[in-house]
Amino acid sequence: MKTTIGYSIHEGAELLRKEDLVAIPTETVYGLAANATSVTALEKVFNVKQRPLYNPLIVHTNSIDTIASYVTHIPATAMALLEYFAPGPLTVLLPSNKRLPALVNNGKPLLAFRIPQHPLTLALLKELPFPLAAPSANIFTQISPTNAWHVFKNFNGKIPYILDGGSCLLGIESTVVGFDENETPVIYRQGAVTASQIANVAGKVRIRKTMNSKLSPGLSSHHYSPATPMYLVKDIHNITAELDVERTALLCFNSYNYQFPISHQFILSNDGNLHEAARNLYKAMHYLDELNLDCLIVEKVPNIGLGMAINDRLQRAACDHTKKTSTAVVTT
Ligand code: TXA
Ligand code: MG
Repeated sequence: MKTTIGYSIHEGAELLRKEDLVAIPTETVYGLAANATSVTALEKVFNVKQRPLYNPLIVHTNSIDTIASYVTHIPATAMALLEYFAPGPLTVLLPSNKRLPALVNNGKPLLAFRIPQHPLTLALLKELPFPLAAPSANIFTQISPTNAWHVFKNFNGKIPYILDGGSCLLGIESTVVGFDENETPVIYRQGAVTASQIANVAGKVRIRKTMNSKLSPGLSSHHYSPATPMYLVKDIHNITAELDVERTALLCFNSYNYQFPISHQFILSNDGNLHEAARNLYKAMHYLDELNLDCLIVEKVPNIGLGMAINDRLQRAACDHTKKTSTAVVTT
């Protein structure tokens, strides 16, 4: 199959109508989109992405009314959050009325919805009579894509079309929010909308502490990972392990470590700006991974606001230190 990168909403819509897959740009990361009402199209998503069937997909629409047509009800706090953040990087978990195939969410009671904020994808959704199920457009557990080239690297020859909407403005996935019996928002996956932004709108919020991958499989501990073994440290200037500096890549928050070659390093934000850091995160991981070095050292960012979502991704992308004895990295 030939994979085309293009700008045509019409071509994308045609392929989606024929139950084919199209990669779509969003403000967070690129999605691998399929007609959410078609089992044939949904099966293609799981196959191409090599994603286990138990991991539910997010359904993308362009209106709250469309969301309402696929759920039994929308809690008042969910409605308030949708009205405030949509279109935008917020995903809400709502009770399905089972109109969509069980394959979308593995037959679970809750279904995930989001209205993405990207002009091309909103125009595409407007042309289509069905919503789009779309996981991030990367092979399962690998690095998320924030431009068309990242998608092409993963799916060249596997999907017919990549709708090129440039680099993703936010660069980190949406925040996934469920609601408890009191309608209090519960964050299942941290993301581009911070907990305090949610609390400002809904009055309160809880962050699910345990990494329960059965509740939200994207929370499984091995995810977003480069092929190069990646280790997370507190401070990139204080690496105490013995490393071959010529064979080590560094992902730095706001300054270089001059003991290592500059060409093997990527700074997320010179100004220490967490929004810029989020926007650069996956681009940096793709870039450093392509250097094909022996190891990638990444430092945590300040654990506030958007930094919490960035650190969450870094933690999941990193190797389990306890299982590696040969390259243990210790920082002070
Ligand atoms: O920003 C985003 O959310 C991107 C763009 C493309 O919209 N999409 C994305 O999809 O990140 P994906 O499939 O890579 O991650 C979806 C997350 C996973 O952690 C999944 O487990 C969770 O949402 N999720 C989806 N449906 C769920 C459900 N019914 N219950 C619990 N978690 C759910
Ligand atoms: Mg993903």
